[in-house]
Amino acid sequence: MTKRLNNKRVLLGVSAGIAAYKTPDLVRKLAAQGAEVRVVMSKNSEQFVTPLALQAVSGHEVHHYAMTADSESGMGHIDLARWADIVLIAPGTANMIARLVIGSADELLTTVCVATEAPIAIAPAMNQQMWQNAATNENMQTLRDRGLLVLGPDSGEQACGEVGPGRMLQPEEIASRLGDHFLNGSLSGQSVMITAGPTWEALDPVRGITNHSSGLMGYAIAQAAAEAGASVTLVSGPTNLSKPEHCQAIDVVSALDMHDAVMSSIEEQDIFIAVAAVADYRPSTNADKKIKKDNEEMTISMVKNPDILADVAALAKRPFCVGFAAETNDVVEYATAKLRRKNLDLIAANHVGGSETGFGTADNAITLISKNSVRELPKANKYALARDLVEAISNEMKK
Ligand code: PMT
Repeated sequence: MTKRLNNKRVLLGVSAGIAAYKTPDLVRKLAAQGAEVRVVMSKNSEQFVTPLALQAVSGHEVHHYAMTADSESGMGHIDLARWADIVLIAPGTANMIARLVIGSADELLTTVCVATEAPIAIAPAMNQQMWQNAATNENMQTLRDRGLLVLGPDSGEQACGEVGPGRMLQPEEIASRLGDHFLNGSLSGQSVMITAGPTWEALDPVRGITNHSSGLMGYAIAQAAAEAGASVTLVSGPTNLSKPEHCQAIDVVSALDMHDAVMSSIEEQDIFIAVAAVADYRPSTNADKKIKKDNEEMTISMVKNPDILADVAALAKRPFCVGFAAETNDVVEYATAKLRRKNLDLIAANHVGGSETGFGTADNAITLISKNSVRELPKANKYALARDLVEAISNEMKK
């Protein structure tokens, strides 16, 4: 099964309607699509479903409605608001809808909705008369105008015995439509090749030179590009990560292997994104037997590896070229010099050196530089950052 919510962080807001009894199943369906789910319960929703049930299925402590010192001590409202890739309110009662319209911040769930930059989706659920009420109608129109994603409602027999529109969509349908939301099609029809991870430059059969790249940034970009509709080839050095879905993966070891793999099919690509931390040099010899420690000193002679990105950018028929530049200081200056020297269309200057961004971290922060613009993509988890980068590439290509 295609997991369309892979690595997505879904904050499920449960409001007080009878359909709340379906939310443990909804959490399971979201998780089955690959999402990590955290739950915030509104006041009174505990009358319809227990926090313990939602904790058991989500695997995380459930956040209650109140904003107390206790509830703020673990993951507070601002952390939750920042954590989410999407906030899903299900069920969305008439009262919750009205509170969203006025921007109420009277309890944890509504406050998170006001504080978040993430998109908000709502699965309305209420009696058919309440759904057709003029105030609810106007409120829903306001939420649609603000860009909220509205999932449902369904029509049919209701818990109150009436028949009509207002039933919450089935959990499977909600999870599936939420997955659709992330397929934005901005790179539809494009072929994208991405290099990721470190390279391994062998000294002998058991030793080699490598670096701390985990591959995560490149894999996240591969996933974001596939979600944006691209046909993705991921050329990866040695990592411990599972391959993103819908990508053709080519595993390589050394810089020379990576160079060969890229050059053999680069002519079919529209976009090349070089995220790999490729070794600039390799040992000039690779001993076929383990080197013995016979001498007090040992000198390793190194030769330069080909620059894969520069070679791609120098092709007569070249794809749109995006490089990465890991820099500790004078980030924009150094990265701009690399953009010019390698003849690139875009370069992502990666702020490395601290412990929170760069090699082997969950988060990253980049400055995106083109020939005539500089734009900050502030610190975020690598999957969120990858989606922003893919959008920026798609926009830059339209210029
Ligand atoms: O894998 P992670 O743990 O998630 O970490 C991600 C990252 C920090 C490795 C990544 O975001 C990053 O910054 N990658 C570039 C690392 C780097 O050191 O780049 P560079 O300045 O050596 O090279 C500049 C560009 O040329 C890069 O796009 C690189 O892929 C490319 N290059 C470099 C040398 C070479 N021989 N061939 C290349 O294609």
